[in-house]
Amino acid sequence: MMLQIREFLNKSEVAQMRQMLATADWSDGRATVGPQGALVKQNRQLPTDSPLSRQLGEFILQKLYQHPQFLSAALPYRTVPPLFNSYSGGEHYGLHVDGAIRILPGSTLSLRTDVSSTLFLTEPEDYDGGELQVMDTFGAHEVKLPAGDLIVYPSSSLHQVKPVTRGERVCSFFWTQSMVKDDQQRTMLFELDRNIQTLRQQLGDSPEVLSLTGHYHNLLRQWSYL
Ligand code: NI
Repeated sequence: MMLQIREFLNKSEVAQMRQMLATADWSDGRATVGPQGALVKQNRQLPTDSPLSRQLGEFILQKLYQHPQFLSAALPYRTVPPLFNSYSGGEHYGLHVDGAIRILPGSTLSLRTDVSSTLFLTEPEDYDGGELQVMDTFGAHEVKLPAGDLIVYPSSSLHQVKPVTRGERVCSFFWTQSMVKDDQQRTMLFELDRNIQTLRQQLGDSPEVLSLTGHYHNLLRQWSYL
């Protein structure tokens, strides 16, 4: 499932974040990838241990874990501290798949990457190129969203960031281990949840709505593991 979460950050939150990032010391983005990624990745990132990256990342995580749409779609168990990247002057990230396992920085804990998220921090008209292209069984999907919008997609998909040929593209990105590993199962739970919410608004807590809610939780109990 690919899901666009509109206005995850409002414009003033984006502006404040961009202002803080404007003076950041970016470093080579190849620091956080394996050998396949390193061959096709050409961009800059904030070092994972930089205080600014931590501060902004914590702000994003706070919002993320209070966001009903993200919670329903990703069913998050654990999320890595968000990273920040910047592309300009033709920089790009060729076709790749994200590594399946990541070690949480500063710990011995690892996390399986099930759900990838990209948070756009630059308005689309401020740069050319830089589309995030995600492949699935229906073909290639190109994503270039307003600043503050978040795209959520399965980490199992091949994807790339096209060259940025004008301006600068700044984003945050992060991976989540879901309580439900399988994308199809997560998608079914998300759709069921959405329909139950709509029915509840239309009908209140009728016996049928309560029964469907029970089914939702029993499926989640079957499919999740903690
Ligand atoms: Ni990637």
